[in-house]
Amino acid sequence: MEHGGFLEVILESKATVGGVGTVLALALMVAAWFLLPHSDRGKLRLIVTLFIGHVLAVVALGLIPPTATAHAVVSVLGLFILLIVITRTGFVVFADSGLLRRWVNPLPKIIRDIFQSLIYIAVLLITLRAAGVDPSSLLTTSALLTAVIGLSLQETLGNMFAGLAIQAQEPFRVGDWIQLDDSERLVGRVLEINWRSTKLFTNDETELIVPNGVISKSSIRNFTRPTESSRLSVRVQAPYDVPPARVREAILGAIRDLPEVSREPAPTVVTEDFADHGVAYWVRFFMNDFQQRHRIESLVRERIWYAFAREEISIPYPIRVSYAHDAAATRAEQEAKALATRRRALEHVGFLRALSPEALDELASMISCRLYGAGETVIKQGTAGEELYVIERGEVEVLHETGDPKKPLQELARLGPGGYFGEMTLLTGEPRSATVRASTEVELVVVEKSAFQRIIANAPGELEQISTSVAERQAELKANVDRTIPGIANMATDSHVLLKRIRRFFSVG
Ligand code: CMP
Repeated sequence: MEHGGFLEVILESKATVGGVGTVLALALMVAAWFLLPHSDRGKLRLIVTLFIGHVLAVVALGLIPPTATAHAVVSVLGLFILLIVITRTGFVVFADSGLLRRWVNPLPKIIRDIFQSLIYIAVLLITLRAAGVDPSSLLTTSALLTAVIGLSLQETLGNMFAGLAIQAQEPFRVGDWIQLDDSERLVGRVLEINWRSTKLFTNDETELIVPNGVISKSSIRNFTRPTESSRLSVRVQAPYDVPPARVREAILGAIRDLPEVSREPAPTVVTEDFADHGVAYWVRFFMNDFQQRHRIESLVRERIWYAFAREEISIPYPIRVSYAHDAAATRAEQEAKALATRRRALEHVGFLRALSPEALDELASMISCRLYGAGETVIKQGTAGEELYVIERGEVEVLHETGDPKKPLQELARLGPGGYFGEMTLLTGEPRSATVRASTEVELVVVEKSAFQRIIANAPGELEQISTSVAERQAELKANVDRTIPGIANMATDSHVLLKRIRRFFSVG
């Protein structure tokens, strides 16, 4: 063995405590302790254990006669452990202490793995050499061994080079959402790319480990790049007798104010097919949170369901068996029940108590019910409208739109069953003074202006009492909330002023 080289000095010192190698290992371990962040100090545990193994080997050497075979074996083993300790500690100091992180942040797992493997192979070869074995002769003397090693490494090397290609080309990075081939099962967020495989975290909250070789042969869809925006689709059918323009308007209106759906690019609806049970529509929209895609698709479907229910657009489905027995009687019963529900709802509205029971019966026969899903906007501040709503079931929140991007909505009130809203626009025609949003699924009884107008035409005398009652309620609402809010400040609490506005709006002299 030649003298002079650094490695030779270590090899010559073999496994002696106090030798250059041992001193170097100790120095590196101390440096690592101080340089590594606290969280990474656990990595030194294995190194310290190995170092203790090395010290034990040295102690054993003192006890075994130098001529015994065991002496040579322990000596080589001690050297092997020492070299591992030195190289591993050196690597940890280099890669984890922040020395390297200044340039590469963080060192990709695959590069770490390959670098460490090369170091360990080098240590093994050096140790073999020190033991008097020429590693190259091992390979060249046995063609069979070479063939076996070559074959068994074929796959591993394939994965490793595929991993390096992924690292170099960057079709995806750690943190990206990807899909391999067209398989729903192979969708996940990239957790790690190592020398053998790529780890994905799927929506089932499980880890999916895909060999890099498989990835290199698959088509890859990246949902995070070039932008985080990706398109989702929902398919729905509507009856043949509803015009496509009406269906499209209902769908777009239903999903327009969903915060999860991007405004730009705007959602679109394609009339896709004339299918067996109805016209098929393909709803396409963009969103930015791929992990939530199933929840967002579900929200969109639900919004469409509620919008269709309100617009009386039925979703066609195949009916195999139909029971015709006494259907008319059942329908009449249901209608009577619905009428009674609507009549009861009207009794909750304070200002309608001015009307006679007969007028209330008549009004109940002209109004309808509407269903809104949680989160849907029922009325929007500043818009025109013609309806009064009474809550039959569920809860809504009354919100003031502040125009301040930091706090765009301020809650004014929450209303439950029996509560009502929208009376100001119904009675005066002024724009909505607040936004009302369903906080749970809500069933609302809706009184349209046309129905109310017919009742008022027969009972113009009641308008005075109505305006007094509405003015009282306005005063109550005003007392309960911040009066500086513009909508609240404008609330008409003077019954004479209100009466004038109502008369003008309903053209009652
Ligand atoms: P309108 O202005 O037609 O539309 C918004 C509705 O919200 C309004 O009628 C009232 O019915 C209701 N509203 C406005 N302010 C409040 C409030 N402070 N508390 C409860 N309801 C309110």
